[in-house]
Amino acid sequence: MRSHYCGLLRSADIDQTVTLCGWVDRRRDHGGVIFLDLRDREGIVQVVFDPDTEEHFATADRVRSEYVLKVTGRVRARGEGTVNPNMATGDIEVLGKEVEVLNSAETPPFQLDEHTAVGEEVRLRYRYMDLRRPEMQQRLLLRSRVTDAVRRFLHNEGFLDIETPILTRATPEGARDYLVPSRTHPGQFFALPQSPQLFKQLLMVSGFDRYYQIAKCFRDEDLRADRQPEFTQIDIETAFLDEDAIMGITERMIRELFQDVLDVELPEFPHMSWAEAMERFGSDKPDLRIPLELVSIDDLMQRVDFKVFRGPADDPRGRVAALRVPGGSSISRKEIDDYTKYVSNYGARGLAWIKVNDLAAGVEGLQSPILKFMPEDVVAEMMTRLEAADGDIIFFGADRASVVNESLGALRLKVGTDQGMVAEGWAPLWVVDFPMFEDDGEGGWTPLHHPFTAPACDLETLSRTPGEALSRAYDMVLNGTELGGGSVRIHNLATQEAVFDILGIDREEAREKFGFLLDALKYGAPPHGGLAFGLDRLVMLMSGAQSIRDVIAFPKTQTAACVMTEAPGTVNAAQLRDLHIRLREQEKKEA
Ligand code: AMO
Ligand code: AMP
Repeated sequence: MRSHYCGLLRSADIDQTVTLCGWVDRRRDHGGVIFLDLRDREGIVQVVFDPDTEEHFATADRVRSEYVLKVTGRVRARGEGTVNPNMATGDIEVLGKEVEVLNSAETPPFQLDEHTAVGEEVRLRYRYMDLRRPEMQQRLLLRSRVTDAVRRFLHNEGFLDIETPILTRATPEGARDYLVPSRTHPGQFFALPQSPQLFKQLLMVSGFDRYYQIAKCFRDEDLRADRQPEFTQIDIETAFLDEDAIMGITERMIRELFQDVLDVELPEFPHMSWAEAMERFGSDKPDLRIPLELVSIDDLMQRVDFKVFRGPADDPRGRVAALRVPGGSSISRKEIDDYTKYVSNYGARGLAWIKVNDLAAGVEGLQSPILKFMPEDVVAEMMTRLEAADGDIIFFGADRASVVNESLGALRLKVGTDQGMVAEGWAPLWVVDFPMFEDDGEGGWTPLHHPFTAPACDLETLSRTPGEALSRAYDMVLNGTELGGGSVRIHNLATQEAVFDILGIDREEAREKFGFLLDALKYGAPPHGGLAFGLDRLVMLMSGAQSIRDVIAFPKTQTAACVMTEAPGTVNAAQLRDLHIRLREQEKKEA
């Protein structure tokens, strides 16, 4: 029907007769001349109807917002003073000759150009309307360009696109499973994959060598701005490549993607050990755009009487750290109280601080509720270590190391943002040398990644000192978001069994859950490894969206529901009977 997209018309098209199809964004009547802003996925163009095209003028006069039109007209330059530099099509307009109403529309449930005023609930209920907004169209267009560029890159590098099942068994990635009852196997359930992890490893055993898939993953976990229960991974696995080669190829993919799609040249990707990231930033996904760092002062605090600090300083699992904010002494008491409340969300029991008013005046030049607890020489040494300067504020955390890291790590981001310290641009890095396991708080171990991650040490060392073992895992971080993660995998049976042992998964349980993988490891599994990127997060960052929901066409709400289709929903008794399921509510009623 159409000859051109509205949003793509430019001065080069002047004098051409074009046919456009789109939605009425706005209709204005200016002294007998009708202006229609016509919108399609590429953008908006202004169409003008003069009264001399009588029949079509009358039609144009009665159209309303969101009517669907087919318009034929001639492209012409806009008159002096009416050029609109804020519009991509602002140099031109279309003089309408014919207009056909393809469909009418009721008054929209919300103004498409005043989206900020409507709640997300309404936007999601009428998502097909919300998606008409140019901003949303741009984001989904960008998403499509991203997947297109990724596919081309991976295809050129010899990766094969292979699908893996959605109805499957649990894949342990640390979340709850979404379960699907089986009709043909009473009382049994499929799990939706939390990732294609096990299948992609099996594909390496099968000899496919380089695999990728743009794969849906399902995780029943608490939702946040960067998490959805159903999300998409760019999932990658390779055989015969070590971690450096895998990081190399995937880094190149991201680099070329940014170049292709955003015309951005990413800076170097530094490699930082997990331990260094935790020490300096309190986070395994540090935002390197913010020039603030945590500094440990445990040794100094072992010389003070202040119990709150002395306790964690003496405890090998504790930490006392300082966060110096240059120029932060103007932060008010009220703001400090707010920050104290903020860090309490991360388990911190307080937030001590020192304002540096006049360093040369010694302790007299400092202002703080904790100075009275500290000998002067300790304070002086601390100021030197922190490179304190007049006008700074220094915040302190003292607790279990995990609490200090989480709370001061979060405070670093918050204060950095509030104080306008976030640098422009892109700050990528690789975090490497993760521990294999973390303490599960009950005397056992849980994997930091998944249980198929290869250790960096030999088997004997691993079993003897699991708490100290590092893994061959790596995460790619961009501007404080974990974009992707992966590892070299275990490819021999003895190591896999040793890891299950350490995790407290006994032989029987291992066989029941992962028997197929353990078997496959016996039949010539090659050395292999890979990684998965979160596509939604990637597009969120590239598009500058604030929420992952803004780059997913039909996302779920914070309570993991779809308000448009009203899923999840109830099912009828016959369906439940087929599935051999009886609901507890029903049982109660019958009792
Ligand atoms: P991981 O669990 O780290 O690794 O997931 C990889 C990437 O997927 C994204 N991601 C999510 N995005 C949106 N919503 C979620 N709920 C969500 N959960 C994860 C993140 C993350 O970095 N099989 C391994 C990968 C591997 O080892 O190859 C895995 O799934 O961006
Ligand atoms: P208190 O003696 O409890 O009044 O604490 C003195 C100062 O130390 C206050 O500013 C508290 O916010 C702070 N504080 C208390 N506990 C901690 C902690 N675990 N980490 C950091 N600061 C703390």
